[in-house]
Amino acid sequence: MNTPVFSRVGIVGTGAMGRGIAQIAAQAGSTVRLYDTQPDAVAKAREALSAQWDKLVHKGRLTREQADSHVSRVPPAATLADLADCDLVIEAIVERLDVKQTLFAELEGIVRPDAILATNTSSLSVTAIAAGLKHPGRLAGYHFFNPVPLMKVVEVIAGLKTDAATGQRLTDYARQMGHTPVQAADTPGFIVNHAGRGYGTEALRIVGEGVTDFVTVDRILRDQVGFRLGPFELFDLTALDVSHPVMESIYRQYFDEPRYRPSVITAQRLAGGVLGRKSGEGFYRYLGGSAQVAPEAAAPQVAELPPVWVSTRAARRAELYQLLKDLGARIETGQSPSPQALTLVAPLGFDVTTVAVVERLDPARTVGIDLLIEDAATRRRVLATNPATRSDMRDAAHALFARDGKPVSVIHDSGGFVTQRVVAHIVNIAADMCQQRVCSPQDLETAVTLGLGYPLGPLAMGDRWGPANMLEVLFNLQTVYGDPRYRPSPWLRRRGAIGLSLLHEEA
Ligand code: NAI
Repeated sequence: MNTPVFSRVGIVGTGAMGRGIAQIAAQAGSTVRLYDTQPDAVAKAREALSAQWDKLVHKGRLTREQADSHVSRVPPAATLADLADCDLVIEAIVERLDVKQTLFAELEGIVRPDAILATNTSSLSVTAIAAGLKHPGRLAGYHFFNPVPLMKVVEVIAGLKTDAATGQRLTDYARQMGHTPVQAADTPGFIVNHAGRGYGTEALRIVGEGVTDFVTVDRILRDQVGFRLGPFELFDLTALDVSHPVMESIYRQYFDEPRYRPSVITAQRLAGGVLGRKSGEGFYRYLGGSAQVAPEAAAPQVAELPPVWVSTRAARRAELYQLLKDLGARIETGQSPSPQALTLVAPLGFDVTTVAVVERLDPARTVGIDLLIEDAATRRRVLATNPATRSDMRDAAHALFARDGKPVSVIHDSGGFVTQRVVAHIVNIAADMCQQRVCSPQDLETAVTLGLGYPLGPLAMGDRWGPANMLEVLFNLQTVYGDPRYRPSPWLRRRGAIGLSLLHEEA
């Protein structure tokens, strides 16, 4: 094992985060002194660490000697003064600016002048925490995620006055601890909590508009995009007493930037104590730990399907034709649909109603399909009706697209369906983070895939389904809704034609 960058580390606050950080620091070979103001907290943390290492011995991942050596390297500190010889002190105490400022002011009087100070804050400004210090250059943000040993990314945050060497040493040390460091500017939400704003807030808007219910939104985003958890499953897991305040705080800290606007749905549920898994009921009800979900209704039975006509402006038109052929549809190829035809449109960003009007189609027979993502890459098809769509046409479209057994969701009309809206929103927020220089495009991708578990980084997502398509969805959503929430970031506009995940950044 290499000599650790910091041989003696102090951890202040030995709750969930502090003990996780202590674990990986001790595993990297450092001696880690543990301090907490709660009388039993340090003893409990040491027991938990010991139990954790015992488990790793059982699994064959550590030898008994290694585990014993780790345990010997997490001694308790009875007072803050016992951290005097530490090269690095990391705090993971209560999330309050005044308490953190007081702690660091006290620590400055205890540790050597060259010792580094780090805060694990997830929502406070690192610059503000360092503001009262005599040597603010030695303090940086070091934002880990819960559970620390499994979430292998850490944001290294430079405040206004943080020395470059402070960030560099913390970065090197993160690697020794087996984590991937990413560099974040001191901005609200840093990288992960900022990039994560797109998913839940847009899903809430979709449900708030009555486009469909939250179970369907979850199904669509899991099956079309490949998210491991739908946004509402994720809200239930995180619990609204954590996630709603984060949404609100980032929105406010960016002075009411519409892209981050939270929802009255979560505000009300939070007020009502309907928090998620931990309160037994969130968007889903939980019985014995598992969500109760009614099975999906079967596709309607339709004796005879009408012929199908496809709009000349449909997205992925050739693919749609092939799919219709594969499904055994009778396809009309005339200039306009016959009076019996089911009329299919596949807009990007626009709603089905607008398309029917603009293309002079009979809205009663018009149904939309979301083809942002190629059909072969998805596990679900999504259709949208407009308010005038006849039920026989809706059922015919549903039955047709379910013929090969792929699940179909039918939602109400809205600009951009579900996937287009959520994906474009995520990509746009990520692009704007690059525009604001919150971090490099590469660190953004790394932080989001490791910190949020998305199937792809947001920039890769934009590239995969077309930067120009993202722009088209956003421009059209802006037209449909007249809402600045959808205005494309200048960064996205510049790269619409050339791709988002280029590895170099403009000077
Ligand atoms: P926790 O409540 O499990 O642990 C906090 C510990 O700090 C407690 O043992 C408490 O007694 C101690 N403490 C409070 N004030 C203290 C003080 N002035 N001096 C010494 N000890 C003090 O909290 P958790 O979840 O470990 O979070 C701690 C910090 O980490 C917070 O700042 C939070 O924002 C940040 N964080 C939390 C994450 C999470 O998912 N829980 C993720 C990333 C950051």
